[in-house]
Amino acid sequence: MKIGIDKISFHVPNDYLDMTDLANARNTDPNKFHIGLGQDKMAVIPKTQDIVTLGAAAAEKIVSDEDKESIDLVIVGTESSNDFSKSAAVIIHGLLGIQPFARSYEVKHACYAGTAALQQARDYVAAHPTRKALVIAADIAKYGLNTGGEPTQGCGAVAMLVSAEPSILAINDDSVFYSEDVYDFWRPSNHEYPLVDGHLSNEIYINSFTRVWEQNLKVNQTTSQDYAALTFHLPYTKMGRKALRAIFPSMSEEEQTRLETRYDEAVVYSREVGNLYTGSLYLGLISLLDNSDALKPGDRIGMFSYGSGAVSEFFSLELMPGYKEQLTVAANQALLTARKQLTIEEYEEMFEDKLPLVDGDYDFNDDTTYAINKLKDGIRYYNH
Ligand code: CAA
Repeated sequence: MKIGIDKISFHVPNDYLDMTDLANARNTDPNKFHIGLGQDKMAVIPKTQDIVTLGAAAAEKIVSDEDKESIDLVIVGTESSNDFSKSAAVIIHGLLGIQPFARSYEVKHACYAGTAALQQARDYVAAHPTRKALVIAADIAKYGLNTGGEPTQGCGAVAMLVSAEPSILAINDDSVFYSEDVYDFWRPSNHEYPLVDGHLSNEIYINSFTRVWEQNLKVNQTTSQDYAALTFHLPYTKMGRKALRAIFPSMSEEEQTRLETRYDEAVVYSREVGNLYTGSLYLGLISLLDNSDALKPGDRIGMFSYGSGAVSEFFSLELMPGYKEQLTVAANQALLTARKQLTIEEYEEMFEDKLPLVDGDYDFNDDTTYAINKLKDGIRYYNH
């Protein structure tokens, strides 16, 4: 029995900042952002939207009424929680109207959490093949105005419906993991934004990739030629490219070109959105499927998941017959092109405009399908 991704979708907020405008405002050469980091635009979120609204909006696109009766596991992977106790998963479960006899919870380890959730969902469906699981990877990457990490911000959510005999991708049982206790990026509970040792984080990312890649070749007896594409966690699109190039010395030039062309197809959407933290690997996967004509059913796609701190995993997916008919390419592209460009002043104002920290009874006016319309007693009330 194959188990995997039956449906997949993403959601980003309606506003973005062009990286040329950010570079000009920060007295930086725009090529540093466009070429040096590989980012063209950055998604920006208003205070009335959060991981719940992003996750619900992504999931709504793929969860049918019939699915709502079959889902009994909802997992949200995130490092942008609103609450130290209650999970975003149980709120999204309620907003979507999924049948009540379900297990709903949140998982965390930096940008790795979505993969942990996906693998838990796979194991659950393996034990209960007639049931389905909803996995959401949602985050808001914010480092602060005028910080080193500012050009690598972004936000959004990816939703995946996991089932037996999936229509898009089977998840192979070939995971290789790597853990290393290191402080490259972390956010203690008294910090609004992460603390980051940016250059160390680049180093640990590449080292983690080469470790799991080498281990994968050994354990699974594969070579690079067994992979139609390698897909990476994308904090910014140059990062995965640096890791990919780190394994080029063992490959022919033709092989390098093939994998780098697939890489270019996998980063189309992330260039437009920025970092989704735990959703970034899966936005890369959607971008690859939407933008590549070279893939075919039966192909194996390698996935490198990285969470600072650091936990990483390499595993693979197998493309299913007829997968192309399940993709929503036009809707995905329309979502990105219909967004509104912010001026630098609007971006900075939106960045600093936050939900009140003092308890009270507040009303908000955001008519987006999923948005916070009220905050009272620490409870966020959502449009839906
Ligand atoms: N034209 C073209 N390229 C230029 C340029 C110009 N005018 N000026 C600089 N560049 C290039 C540099 O050569 C460099 O390229 P290489 O890395 O290939 O050498 C690139 O632009 C970046 O330049 P710097 O290293 O000087 O940039 P920086 O000091 O501002 O730091 C950063 C970059 C470390 C990524 C920083 O933005 C940061 O800390 N970001 C947040 C942390 C992060 O994303 N880490 C990634 C790994 S951790 C992870 O994956 C988890 C996660 O999601 C956070």
